[in-house]
Amino acid sequence: MQLGFSSPIHLVESNLDGTFFEKLKKDIYSLRKNDSGSNISNNLGWHSPSDLFLKKEETFQKVCTTCASSVASIMKSYDSKFNPDLFDARFSGWINVNPKGGSNILHSHPNSHWSGVLYIQQPTEVDGFSGMIEFVNPNQEGRELAKILPKFGFDNIIRIRPRTGQIVIFPSYVLHSVYPNNSTEDRITIAFNSLLLKKKKT
Ligand SMILES: [Fe+2]
Repeated sequence: MQLGFSSPIHLVESNLDGTFFEKLKKDIYSLRKNDSGSNISNNLGWHSPSDLFLKKEETFQKVCTTCASSVASIMKSYDSKFNPDLFDARFSGWINVNPKGGSNILHSHPNSHWSGVLYIQQPTEVDGFSGMIEFVNPNQEGRELAKILPKFGFDNIIRIRPRTGQIVIFPSYVLHSVYPNNSTEDRITIAFNSLLLKKKKT
């Protein structure tokens, strides 16, 4: 079998540990203290400026390196000959802190190849769809097949709640949204976009 027009949703382990996440959260909250954030897809939550990949803090730099190498691994999983050195990889990243009630409206990330989200604090003791990310199938006509073959990629939506430490990576064209956080604990994520431009041969 060869998959024709499916859209992959990759879920990868970051291998970042609890001690690191505690340090990272400290840096995130101190950044938030001095920055009122941006209004993009966020509703009630704090969305930092999209300059995370330019930050000097060790924690942010480690996150950026981890996200960049995850994208390279995914590229290699499609094309074993993929060589990141031959590409000028343009990344942008930002932090989302969604308090109780915080959500993100439906959006995609134009002008990028792969987008991703690293889960730093994902409240787990919650009911319903709290804090879940929902992806919309770009091919809505698959719904009839999904009735007889559910969970094979034909469904209209995929809804997941990745664990702390996981990174979800998906093609940037896939529309997605985040359900309101029903927990009193903040839902904290770092999101990124990547654009891989082939370097010109010299
Ligand atoms: Fe997004």
